[in-house]
Amino acid sequence: MHTLALVTLLVAVVVATVTGYPGAASQPFGHTRGRAHDKTIDGGSGHGLPNVTHALAGGGSGSRKAQFVHTFVNRSLDGVRYTGHLLVLDNPSPGTFALLPPYPGGCGTKAYTTSTAAAGRCLAATNAGFFDVATGACLGSLVSDGKVVQASTLVRPSFGMLAANAHRTHPVFFAGYVAATTETELASAGFVNLVSGVGWLVANGTSFLNASIAIEHPSPSFVAEAAPRLAIGHDADGRLMILEVDGDEIFKTGPNLVQLTALALDLGFYNAVNLDGGGSDTVVLGSSICSSCGALNQTCTDIKASATPTMPAASAPPTPAGEYMPCIKCGYAAGHNLHIPLCQRLVTSITCIRDTPDEILTTP
Ligand SMILES: *[C@@H]1O[C@H](CO)[C@@H](O)[C@H](O)[C@H]1NC(C)=O
Ligand SMILES: *[C@@H]1O[C@H](CO)[C@@H](O)[C@H](O)[C@H]1NC(C)=O
Ligand SMILES: *[C@@H]1O[C@H](CO)[C@@H](O)[C@H](O)[C@H]1NC(C)=O
Ligand SMILES: *[C@@H]1O[C@H](CO)[C@@H](O)[C@H](O)[C@H]1NC(C)=O
Ligand SMILES: *[C@@H]1O[C@H](CO)[C@@H](O)[C@H](O)[C@H]1NC(C)=O
Repeated sequence: MHTLALVTLLVAVVVATVTGYPGAASQPFGHTRGRAHDKTIDGGSGHGLPNVTHALAGGGSGSRKAQFVHTFVNRSLDGVRYTGHLLVLDNPSPGTFALLPPYPGGCGTKAYTTSTAAAGRCLAATNAGFFDVATGACLGSLVSDGKVVQASTLVRPSFGMLAANAHRTHPVFFAGYVAATTETELASAGFVNLVSGVGWLVANGTSFLNASIAIEHPSPSFVAEAAPRLAIGHDADGRLMILEVDGDEIFKTGPNLVQLTALALDLGFYNAVNLDGGGSDTVVLGSSICSSCGALNQTCTDIKASATPTMPAASAPPTPAGEYMPCIKCGYAAGHNLHIPLCQRLVTSITCIRDTPDEILTTP
C-alpha cells in the first residue's frame, strides 16, 4: 500500500489546497458556492411540495430533563460495515431539542460545534445545516427557539417542530419542504425550530430518496460519494433521532445517500432528512468529541486532548488556517491506520439536546 498511499496522500494534498478545504459536502451543488444547480421556490405558500407532521413522543410535555440515549452504531449492510453514533431523545419538546446558530456571531460566521454547544448548555450536539464554507452563510432556513434566523427560497427538505396552535393541541415534528419563504411567513407557520438539509431520505417509514432527488437535483457526486454523513428525524413513536455515520471524504469511506437511507430505515427512522456531513461531521457528548473516521475503537475523546497534535507536524494536512481544530485530520489518521481522534471543523448551525432552559416556555 505504501506507494499507492503516498500518491493518494499527495493527490489529496493538492486537491485540498486547490479547493481550499477537504469537506466538500458542505456545498452539495457543485463548485459554484452551492447555487448554480439550486432550484428556488417561486412565491410563497402552496407550492405543492410534500411535507409531513408527526406527534412527539409524550406529546412534547414530558420532563424538562432530556431523557436520551447515545449508542455506538456498528452495522453491516450488504457486506459493508458502518460505524457511527445514534442519539435518541425519548422526550422531545421545544425545550429538550433545539437548533442553534453559531455562537456568538450567528449565520455568516462559523464556530466549533463544541463552542456553540457549551454556550447552549447542550448535553449532546452535532453539526447541522449546510453552509457556505468561505463566508459562513447558512444555507436554507433556520429557526432557533422560536426565532426565525433565516428564511430561504431554496427547494430543500427541512426538519423541525411546529408549535401547538388552534388546530393542534401539542407541538409536532415537521419534515419536508417548507412552503413559507419569508421570515414573516416562517414565523406565522409556527416553527419553533427548523433546519434545512439536502435529501429527504425517509418519509412515512419508506425511502423517499429518489423522489427527493427528483425534486432537489443535488449533484450526482454528492448523492454517490462515500463520506461521513448525518441524518435527523424521528421514529414511529415520535422520539427524536440523530444518526451520524463515520467515514472520510478524502479516503472515500462511509455511506453514500442510498446506503445512509438504508441504515436510517434499519435503525427505525420514520422520517429522516440528510444534514451536512463530510468534514463538518461532528458528534459531541458533554465536552467530548465522539465522531471518528471509522478506523477507531469508538471512544469519545475529551476536547482538550484532541486539540493537542499527537503526530509530527510534517504529517499534518494543509487545512485552511482556523478551519479545523489544531490537531490531525481524521482522514490522514485513517489512511495511516493511526488511533487519532477526529478534529472538529468550524460549522454554522448545530443540533442540541438539553435540559429545558428556564427561559423556554414549556408547552401545556
Ligand atoms: C405543507 O404542504 C402543504 C401542501 O403543499 C402546504 O399547504 C403547507 O403550507 C405546508 N406546510 C408548511 C409548514 O410549509
Ligand atoms: C405521508 O402519510 C400521510 C398520511 O397517510 C399522507 O397524507 C402523505 O401524503 C404521506 N406523505 C409522503 C411524502 O409519503
Ligand atoms: C431509486 O432509483 C434507483 C436508480 O434509478 C433504483 O435502482 C432504486 O431501486 C430506486 N429506489 C427506490 C426505493 O425506489
Ligand atoms: C464492529 O463489529 C465487528 C463485528 O462484531 C467487530 O469486529 C469490530 O471490531 C467492531 N468495530 C468497532 C469499531 O467496534
Ligand atoms: C481506544 O483508543 C484509545 C485511543 O487510542 C485508547 O486510549 C483506548 O485504550 C482504546 N480503548 C479500547 C477499549 O481499546
